[in-house]
Amino acid sequence: MLIAQISDPHMRAAGQLYQGLVDSNTMCAAAIATLNALDPQPDLVLLSGDVVDTGTPADYAQARHVLDRLRAPLLAIPGNHDAPEGFRRCFAGQPGLAASGPLHVDWSGDGPLRVLGLDITVPGAHHGRFDAAAEDWLARALARAPDRPVLLMMHQPPCDIGIGCIDAYRCFGEDRLAALLARHPRVQRVLCGHVHRLTMRAFGGTLLLTAPSTTTAIALRLAPGAEPASHVEPPALLLHHWREGAGLTTHHLPIGAHPGPFPFF
Ligand SMILES: [Fe+2]
Repeated sequence: MLIAQISDPHMRAAGQLYQGLVDSNTMCAAAIATLNALDPQPDLVLLSGDVVDTGTPADYAQARHVLDRLRAPLLAIPGNHDAPEGFRRCFAGQPGLAASGPLHVDWSGDGPLRVLGLDITVPGAHHGRFDAAAEDWLARALARAPDRPVLLMMHQPPCDIGIGCIDAYRCFGEDRLAALLARHPRVQRVLCGHVHRLTMRAFGGTLLLTAPSTTTAIALRLAPGAEPASHVEPPALLLHHWREGAGLTTHHLPIGAHPGPFPFF
């Protein structure tokens, strides 16, 4: 079973640049083209938040236009740049999307993996919060199929990752989430966005990853107090490949066409 992950495309109304810098709409379209060219095709594509940049209807109209080109099924959760009602309209009909309230996702297909997506956004804020209501929703969802392997998707990582400017806007409530995950060892990954770069660390007895953005990267500045900045780095996506007996392997794939293939020997 193959599950792809793209993140933080920050799409904007047609013709507008993201951060006045790059055409995030065209960059997301390039990600979609990379996904559509995969062989085998992914069984599912995850979009881990910040679908759009400013949350306007025009942003979401453009997002719908770009995402409609994707061949594989799509499962999205909101990030801190999304607007709840605009998001709900854009993704109406998405399997497993809660009809009202928080935009959590509970997805079960025919394959071995199940996907749970958490909406941990806080209105008007850039940080997230895993509160008692989210804990209750996730605990109930995990209890429904405790032996099935799960990918848990959420936008802000529930822990610091060592880049100060983004750690200030992480998802708070990490202790209650870590304790819940420790009781569910079948959670294979916590898959996040928000950081706009690939990072990985242990969390709650499992592996937490943050996916690269399809647009700009947040500067890798590890010095305490460093000013935030963006870089136009090569964008990328993740492929989570489940094989029976081996479990889950995650691959990092740069977006776009690159020279090759060449003979290896
Ligand atoms: Fe973002």
